[in-house]
Amino acid sequence: MQKAFEAQENCYTPYSNFNVGAALLGTNGKIYQGCNIENASFTPTNCAERTAFFKAVSEGQRTFSAIAIVGNKSDATEGEYCSPCGVCRQVMMEFCNPKEFKIYLAKDRNNYSDYIEYTLEEILPLGFGPNNLK
Ligand code: THU
Repeated sequence: MQKAFEAQENCYTPYSNFNVGAALLGTNGKIYQGCNIENASFTPTNCAERTAFFKAVSEGQRTFSAIAIVGNKSDATEGEYCSPCGVCRQVMMEFCNPKEFKIYLAKDRNNYSDYIEYTLEEILPLGFGPNNLK
């Protein structure tokens, strides 16, 4: 959670002002941080979760156990859980075991025990992944 909130500080969100941070735990024990990075042309915007995944994969790590995600409008007074978008869920499906990979959503940087936990299978039922192409 702490690493996700830390990553959120680096978000580049001049268009939405919706700030997201992610901390992805590799099975190697390393944490890969990501933030959302927006673009004036909108479409090239990259979510925090995918930033974290692509950083990890580009460094040779392809297996993961969990991700922590935080996100809120910059002027929000109360935290809300930020659930990963469909595209990010599909990227998780590419590299993670849907029954085992854990997604932690937190909303309070002063209370890391306030979180909800899902498996990838719970938030992406009937997911299509690499096994379907074997
Ligand atoms: N966003 C993320 O980074 N992750 C999510 O799980 C939801 C959405 C970003 C994309 C965009 O920069 C902003 O939040 C508003 O959609």
